[in-house]
Amino acid sequence: MSGDRKKLYIKTYGCQMNVYDSERMVDVMAHEGYEVTETPDDADLVVLNTCHIREKAAEKVYSDIGRLRLLTEKRVGKGGKPSLLAVGGCVAQAEGAEIQRRAPMVDMVFGPQSYHRLPEMTRKADKIRQQGGRARIVDTDLSVSEKFAVLSEKAVRSRKTAFLTIQEGCDKFCTYCVVPYTRGGEFSRPFEDVMTDADKLNAAGVREVTLLGQNVNAYHGRSDDGREWSLARLIRHLAAETDFKRIRYTTSHPQDMTSELIAVHGDVAACMPYLHLPVQSGSDRIVKAMNRHHTISSYLKTIDDIRTVRPDIALSGDFIVGFPGESDEDFEQTMALVRRVNYAQAYSFMYSERPGTPAAGWENQVESHVKAARLAELQAELDRGQRAFNDAAVGRVMTVLLERQGREAGQLVGRSPYMQAVHVDVGDPESARQYFGQLVEVKILSAGPRSLKGELILA
Ligand code: 5AD
Ligand code: SF4
Repeated sequence: MSGDRKKLYIKTYGCQMNVYDSERMVDVMAHEGYEVTETPDDADLVVLNTCHIREKAAEKVYSDIGRLRLLTEKRVGKGGKPSLLAVGGCVAQAEGAEIQRRAPMVDMVFGPQSYHRLPEMTRKADKIRQQGGRARIVDTDLSVSEKFAVLSEKAVRSRKTAFLTIQEGCDKFCTYCVVPYTRGGEFSRPFEDVMTDADKLNAAGVREVTLLGQNVNAYHGRSDDGREWSLARLIRHLAAETDFKRIRYTTSHPQDMTSELIAVHGDVAACMPYLHLPVQSGSDRIVKAMNRHHTISSYLKTIDDIRTVRPDIALSGDFIVGFPGESDEDFEQTMALVRRVNYAQAYSFMYSERPGTPAAGWENQVESHVKAARLAELQAELDRGQRAFNDAAVGRVMTVLLERQGREAGQLVGRSPYMQAVHVDVGDPESARQYFGQLVEVKILSAGPRSLKGELILA
């Protein structure tokens, strides 16, 4: 092997768990002499970190593999070396064998719990490739704890905001969802492991942490003394014992929004006033068919309780339209719920039949044109809500964590406590360097559909 650094291209699909996983893959591969490249053109290793949650996301992977095949053929035609191709993440977990059948050029297929073994898989695949063969490795083991043990050792990066995975997997089995099958059952990382990572992030200068988990508010990690840590206790501990100025967590399930956790929103200043709490539908009939384990009135009660302790909380959610059996009236109830709750922002999707999930086999599927019309109507309402939420910020002073460079020189971008992106002109590039990573007071001057603009208030 030459002394040159090899090039790694990762494409990330889907959720924040995948964004986090991709960052960890960069970390582990850095130890193997790989550095990140922005295009697949000159990559020695291409990793597609895939998402299986909706059909569109999964199909996109196959079309990307097709495109990569053409790219490789062109490169080899010009006398170049073919890149190694790895497909990781949830599509890999769910349909490993299918990927190998449909896309024989893929060297490695690995699930979300296996990427700490990416270095050894890559070495093996590279060796086989040098001997003129193709590795065709499949690693879709689902045990989570080994992965975290390996990765914690290797995580070193310097950012002002970071994700910290504390929980993975899900046992809720919503009838539309592939996660319990692709990510496996619920697993909470032990308390000491979480704190080791938290300390490392602090040492690297991270000021805002987002605790991640598919069902993060179901967190129940144990500490060495055998005690159990709820998410509420963990947040209180992080706020009191670490240097994080801001703590967020995502994604949560309404059923696990305990009064203990709600209280944290009321009295822990570092716990940011933003909560992503998916409800999926406003109809009791539909949430029941979805096996969501809550009703609309229990969800509304939870929201009321949170607003009692933290009146300014910004709420976000996920919605699915066109779930099997959803009538016009059910959909109207979703619209009514959206108008009532006033979401600061939200994500919405057309129901997509996922093979292997219960609802995929049901006969009362909703026609696609009905789904499309409902989605358009819902998104228009959600956009209106988001716009109103942003407009209401104009004239206010907010604390913003300036976490990245803006498009123009002398401009920095950060987040408000409510997760809004805020663009701030700080003057010249020198001032930008000075303010980067700082929590500053910003007066909001104007609002757009997805972001705010403001100016620094100098003390
Ligand atoms: N169809 C459409 N949307 C889905 N989601 C999960 N599974 C499906 C599916 N089969 C959405 C849910 C979830 C979000 C991450 O993706 O709204 O909260
Ligand atoms: Fe999927 Fe439901 Fe679990 Fe969320 S709670 S990951 S939607 S099964």
